[in-house]
Amino acid sequence: MEDISGLFELNRAWASGMRAQDAEFFNKLSQQQAPEYLWIGCSDSRVPANTVVGLLPGDIFVHRNVANVVAHSDMNCLSVLQFAVDVLRVRHIIVCGHYGCSGIQAVLKRQRLGLADNWLRYVRDVEDKHTARLRALVDTEQHARLCELNVIEQVAHVCETSIVRDAWERNQPLSVHGFIYGIQDGILHDLHTTVRHGSEITAQYEVAISALGRRSVDIK
Ligand code: CO
Repeated sequence: MEDISGLFELNRAWASGMRAQDAEFFNKLSQQQAPEYLWIGCSDSRVPANTVVGLLPGDIFVHRNVANVVAHSDMNCLSVLQFAVDVLRVRHIIVCGHYGCSGIQAVLKRQRLGLADNWLRYVRDVEDKHTARLRALVDTEQHARLCELNVIEQVAHVCETSIVRDAWERNQPLSVHGFIYGIQDGILHDLHTTVRHGSEITAQYEVAISALGRRSVDIK
């Protein structure tokens, strides 16, 4: 698309298609949003949150960054998380990674990207933590496994925030999940790291890590 005006044409066609399906769609959405899910995913253009789960505008609150990182000092991510949990009262938080992630690849291959290297240091921390586990694998398996491990670690980070801990403390129903998406087949997988209460964090982390060991890595 050489001319950016094409985007407006696409938008008009999309909005009119939506109105054709439901004349009140935009009117209803303009009143309020009540999403059930917060999605924390990678910025990768191939992993659009609503599209891959077939949900409409209004259904998912979204935060995306390079390599779906949850850093405790990231005011952007924390603000999204706090708004989603305290104001929107989402029921589920999903950290979604994906196979074929360029950020993960840059970390594994020690590629220099620029400023982003500093951001990806968070993923390098995950790699360092699991060096022995990763070293035992061949190249393509290492990539897939680090994509998975990064999700599991970021799920733990979500669970350890004061925002999520406080929600559980006041018995607000809230689950944190780790998913991974296959760019090559469009399929989403559960990494079995679902945490429903602060008391489950350590046990669920162990369940997810041992499930990885039994999972055959067939993703390139
Ligand atoms: Co990515």
